[in-house]
Parts: sequence; C-alpha cells; structure tokens
Amino acid sequence: MANVLVIGSGAREHAIAATMLKSNQVENVYCAPGNPGMKKDAIQLVDIDELDFAKLTAFAQRKAIDLTFVGPEVPLAMGIVDKFQAAGLRAFGPSQSSARLESDKTFAKKFMMRNGIPTAQFKTFTDADAAENYARTLSLPVVVKENGLAAGKGVSIVRDIDDLRGAIDASFQKSDEILIEQFLSGEEFSLMLFVGGDQKVLFPISQDHKKIHEGETGPNTGGMGAYSPVPHITEEVQKETIQKIVEPTMAGLAKENLEFAGVIYIGCMLTEEGPKVIEYNLRLGDPETQVLLPQLQSDFYQMTIDLIDHKLPEVKWQTGEFYLGVVIAAPGYPASPQQDIELPNLPNNVFYAGVTERNHKLYSSGGRIFTIYNHAATLECAQAKVYAELSRINLSNFYYRKDIGFRDLQS
Ligand code: AMP
Ligand code: GLY
Repeated sequence: MANVLVIGSGAREHAIAATMLKSNQVENVYCAPGNPGMKKDAIQLVDIDELDFAKLTAFAQRKAIDLTFVGPEVPLAMGIVDKFQAAGLRAFGPSQSSARLESDKTFAKKFMMRNGIPTAQFKTFTDADAAENYARTLSLPVVVKENGLAAGKGVSIVRDIDDLRGAIDASFQKSDEILIEQFLSGEEFSLMLFVGGDQKVLFPISQDHKKIHEGETGPNTGGMGAYSPVPHITEEVQKETIQKIVEPTMAGLAKENLEFAGVIYIGCMLTEEGPKVIEYNLRLGDPETQVLLPQLQSDFYQMTIDLIDHKLPEVKWQTGEFYLGVVIAAPGYPASPQQDIELPNLPNNVFYAGVTERNHKLYSSGGRIFTIYNHAATLECAQAKVYAELSRINLSNFYYRKDIGFRDLQS
C-alpha cells in the first residue's frame, strides 16, 4: 500500500488529498502543512512549512512516501520538485525551470511566441517612460502586469489614458519588470490538463469566479466559486483550444527540453479570432479543483504515477452531472479578512482552507475559509442544492457570493 504526501494547505489540497485517499492502493495521505479541517477525512497533518524542502524530503524518506503531489505555485517556482527528485523521491509537478512558465510572465510570453501559440501582443519593460510610450501605441484598454507570482493580483486593466502612468508606476513599485499587453476581450475559461512527457489527460472545463461580489464586480480574489462542466464552452471550442494551444504547448515543451509530469492550467480568452492564452499556471486551480476532482471516477493515484512514468493512464470522468462549489470567505476578504471567527458545524461535502483549531473547534485564519460543493443533473439544480444547504447553516459572520454559476443560468 502506498503513502502519499500533499504539499499545501488550502481547499485545493484538501480535495487532492481526499481524492488520493479514495484510491484502494493508498494507505496514508499526509498533508504538509495542511489545515485542521482536513482531519475529518483522515488526512494526516505534518507540521512542516511548504518551503522547508530539507525537512519535507527528510519526512518523505522517513515515511517511505511513494508520491508527493505539490499543490501551490510558490514551492514549484522555488524548485521543490528538483529537490525531491535529487533525493530519489517521486514528485508530481514541474521542475523549477519549467515552472518559469507560470512564475516568469515574460518567459511564458516568449515561449508562446516561439511556438506559435495565440496570445495577446505584448512587450516587457524595465523603464516607465518606455512602457508608457509603448502602451500609448496600443488601443485602449491596455493591460499592465507585474512580472512574477502575484496570486492573481498583479494585473491592472487601464481603460482611461489618464490612469495609464499611475498603473505603470504602481506596477514598478512591486516589480522591476512589467509587461504591457493588448487587452483581449471575450469569454474567459480555464482548461486544465495533467501531462507526463508527451502523454496528456484533459480535465473537464471549469469556470472560476474571480471577483469578490456578485455579477463579477469588486476587487479580484483567489476565486469565489466554480462550476464544471461549462455549457457555453462548446465541444468545438475545446477542440480548437486543443489544436491551437494544447498541442503546440506540448510540442514546445518537448522541443525546449521543458517536459515534466504535472499540471498545465491554461487561462484562455475566447476572442473573435478564436481562443488565446492569457496565462499558464503549472498547478491546479483553486477553487476549480474542488469541483473537478469529485468528478473523477478512476484511480487518482494510479493516474499520477502513470504520468510520472510517461504512460497514458486509464481515466474515467463522470458524465451527465454538473458540479458547483461556493467559497465561504472571512468578512473583509480580500483586503483584510477578519480572523478568529468560530465556524458552525458543517456538512461533509466541504473542503477546508483558512482554518485553525482550538478545543476541538475550528476558527477562521485566512481569507478563504472553505468550499462547499454539490452536484446534480442540471447546473440549476446543483446551484440550488448548494445554496439550500448554505441557507440551513448559520454563516452570518462570513461572506459568500450568491450567484456562482450565473453565466450559464441567465435566461
Ligand atoms: P493573470 O495574472 O495574467 O492571469 O491575469 C489575471 C486576470 O487579468 C485574468 O484572469 C484576466 O481576467 C485578466 N487579464 C490578464 N491579461 C489580460 C489580457 N491580455 N486581456 C484581458 N484580460 C486580461
Ligand atoms: N482560481 C484561479 C487560480 O487558481 O489561479
């Protein structure tokens, strides 16, 4: 029987760990550092920081860990997979050099250009005047991005030319290098796949809700809810995305010696000229994972191991149902989430994130506290089920959006 270690502490990692435990080949699932909400699913917490690679590899050796699955982007960008591999340990995720496709936006854009992958026109700058001059040659709106990991918060969309310089200066306060990009208009969607060398497994399409308030208004967050599959992203669009984006991406990885076993999450915009890449992430999305992994009916552990061995796994997804998840956040999120609010008793269809434990009770300790999800034959019913369940729980001290799924439910 196998032992699995999951790195990270959010609801995404809770879903990863819980899905690993469903495999009848898996005996123990550890999560470092995890969160105390995970204990309800028999996930074992390991008190080691996700960036303490020396302690993590020592733990993995001591516990005979067969597979380490890395959830978040920061340890990947810092080279956790290289460290595990150097210690003779099996880890699922990109090497540090491949992880640059997420952590270094200029590197990613140049990769797309070299490999003929459709994306927005751009240039990189280290000087504000030069950035401004270039931005003025593009039509409004223009996009100003810090280079580097910014948890979805490093992007400003400038719609008024008077705001341009301010946005450029603000980005330079946070990063030495910025990107100016042409704005892509259209419908945004995410496609995630697992790869292992030249093998790939496509996930169902999912739709995140990035803004804090209903109708996609207010500041950006890590994600306030998700559903999957997504009816308005048709079979045809998916085929076009595979042909124009997924296949050239994988061919580019092979050509440039960047192949790995891990996740490719493609943030896409469906424009009038077809799908274009907004960004690559080399990890699963949060909260998308919380509505994707419950759809997997085959063995998650075997799928991951097969891909590490560059073999095509046998994969079975549910068909015919919709999965919808709502994120419950602390009031004040995303700017200043209120800490230490006691959680009510919650049902089992919950993945925990920012929680801490005292006297066997859970308290908030972060922005996003948990994701609750459900499924049904229609998206409408899935949504109704989740909100009916939420209405029976006293969550008056917390915040959540009431409209997750709205894009496919407007009549
Ligand atoms: P990123 O950090 O690159 O994923 O950007 C965060 C969000 O900004 C994306 O999910 C989009 O909603 C938006 N965004 C980024 N780049 C563009 C672009 N070129 N055109 C339109 N929207 C964009
Ligand atoms: N939900 C967006 C992300 O994980 O990047």
